[in-house]
Amino acid sequence: MSLEAVTTIAEARDRVAEARRDGRAIGLVPTMGALHAGHGSLVRKAVQESDLAVVSIFVNPLQFGPKEDFQRYPRNLETDLACCRDWGAHLVFAPETAEMYPTVSLTTVEVARVSEGLCGAFRPGHFRGVATVVLKLFNIIQPDRAYFGEKDAQQLAVIRRMTADLNLNLAIVPVPTVREPDGLAMSSRNRYLNAEERQTAPVLYRALCLAQQRISEGVESAVAVKEEAVSILRSQPLIRVEYFEIVDANDMQPVANILMPVVALAAIWIGSTRLIDNLRCYG
Ligand code: PAF
Repeated sequence: MSLEAVTTIAEARDRVAEARRDGRAIGLVPTMGALHAGHGSLVRKAVQESDLAVVSIFVNPLQFGPKEDFQRYPRNLETDLACCRDWGAHLVFAPETAEMYPTVSLTTVEVARVSEGLCGAFRPGHFRGVATVVLKLFNIIQPDRAYFGEKDAQQLAVIRRMTADLNLNLAIVPVPTVREPDGLAMSSRNRYLNAEERQTAPVLYRALCLAQQRISEGVESAVAVKEEAVSILRSQPLIRVEYFEIVDANDMQPVANILMPVVALAAIWIGSTRLIDNLRCYG
């Protein structure tokens, strides 16, 4: 099946309805474009597991704060389409903002608690924007499965909770983070980094690995683990630490004593670029 790209909700619904009439399984990979190998692993998994693999490409204004990088967020539809073709996707849905939000949205989706700490504390309204657009995409495409990267651990927890709370009829499939050879998690924002910043960036992964190692050695105090990891990050003058936390994987609440599998998560700034990453840790 060759790749088709559509821009309207009506066309997307039409293609999906046709597939559904034929009993085909539909997979959705929601993206904001600027595709890289991390997206590639999501799309390839969707292609393996679905008869119609749909990639949405939409830079969602609702999830950016007023001082964030919405305007400069990288956009290149032609390159993205070429990636989707290479990875074997069947349909790209790439709407304009006016198609997704013809009027100001008076209805939004708020996933309390899971959204509130970590990135949610530093990006007010971000997860409201994510949950709202993802629910809209689910309603438009009505996939059997939707694929999300584990790199955005809090986003994944928010979407899982929304799906459970609202009885949405689909499976959320988590896909492991894809890393550069030096450990840096693939991200569309990595392209903002200059050479010196790019060289420094893998320290985020090293700090998370240290936390993972300490937890596997049996350290139970989250404060002790965090202090050691943060000191590695702070040793780099280019880095400003926004947060480093150890949380319960399901509700994203910080833990004081590490007595169960947890996730270590961090957000840092390198120059004007914000990077996030996380690792699952087992004691
Ligand atoms: O992870 C992203 O790229 C975005 O947050 C998503 C899920 C596509 C919603 O805009």
